[in-house]
Amino acid sequence: MNVQARLAEARASGAKLFRAPGRVNIIGEHTDYNEGLVLPANTALYTWLSIKERSDRRIRISTSSLDASGAFHLDELTRSDDPTWIDYVKGVAWFLENEGGKLRGADISIDGEIPIGGGLSSSASLELAVAVALLDVAGISLPPKTIAELCQAAEREFAGVNCGIMDQYSIACGQYGKAMLLDCRTLATEYAPIPAEIALVVTDSGAKHKLPDSGYNDRAIECSQAARLLKEFDTTVNSLRDASTDLLESRQQELGDTLYRRSHHVVTEIQRVRDAFEALGAGDAKRLGTLVKASHASLRDDFEVSCDEVESLVEIADRCDGVLGSRIVGAGFGGCVLSVVEAKNIGAVMDDISRNYATVSGRRPWIHRVTATDPAAEVSEV
Ligand code: GLA
Repeated sequence: MNVQARLAEARASGAKLFRAPGRVNIIGEHTDYNEGLVLPANTALYTWLSIKERSDRRIRISTSSLDASGAFHLDELTRSDDPTWIDYVKGVAWFLENEGGKLRGADISIDGEIPIGGGLSSSASLELAVAVALLDVAGISLPPKTIAELCQAAEREFAGVNCGIMDQYSIACGQYGKAMLLDCRTLATEYAPIPAEIALVVTDSGAKHKLPDSGYNDRAIECSQAARLLKEFDTTVNSLRDASTDLLESRQQELGDTLYRRSHHVVTEIQRVRDAFEALGAGDAKRLGTLVKASHASLRDDFEVSCDEVESLVEIADRCDGVLGSRIVGAGFGGCVLSVVEAKNIGAVMDDISRNYATVSGRRPWIHRVTATDPAAEVSEV
């Protein structure tokens, strides 16, 4: 359904329409919870949400993408031991009520376009869509940065994923046509236009995340163990953000193989983010592609978050003419692959990736060209 039709449908039922984009991280994977740097952009794939105020404090919510519905009372927000999609919504409501002010009940319906578990932040997009809509209905205004932090807290506390701030921050504060360099320690941002000669394409490997939450949380634990250990030798290390490759090399033995490789990924990836931001600014597509390839090798070998299907897709994509580099995107353990592509050949390249992957996977994959778009907001006119 196009945006005009969605808006007309919402209005006809007396509802307001909101949308939150997905995010594609160009580079800087698993660096956010190490207080490092990331370089995401939003993309024009949305969580669409229509909302109608109620006179009580109940939230009734249905999602057509998951073919599910549920309800809860704003006075009875409790955590579940076995969280599902609705716990993301409850978490957001809980944090908004506690930090923002009293919410109002509402009937909400959601239609998500972002592949779930694909590494494009379908969960953060849901959180942000819910947050901006609930705040609007309650007449509360909060800075986007604060909304991002509350949504991150909701995901950590109610969904049990010890995520960093990247996804929520990008979806709350990203800018149209631009990539965002975010320093996850200070939350300082710099934006760079994505040059016209560089196209970004995401292709779904079709591999669903295997144990994503526990795998993700394990990596976060390993990184903080490594940082604690390194602090014994260099007191300025408060997180892996502060470690240098020299320090890692000199403490390789004390770290042991696994923690050494995890730290090596994080430290080298932070440098790749800096280099990629420069490459974007210079319109240097080739250099960006090379950095993206190096990021993938590091995520595969040092951080160990790839899988067979993703490996096959990365290899296939990188062999296509016009592809300058590909890598797994998001948390990993399955999901989508991002390719940096020469924009002039974009149509043919997308077709090649899709056709060639179909020969090994047996079906044409979902493939999408990234168009960097606005943050989560109400859609009031088109
Ligand atoms: C998930 C998390 C983010 C980030 C990425 C990996 O998307 O939500 O905070 O850690 O994985 O870079």
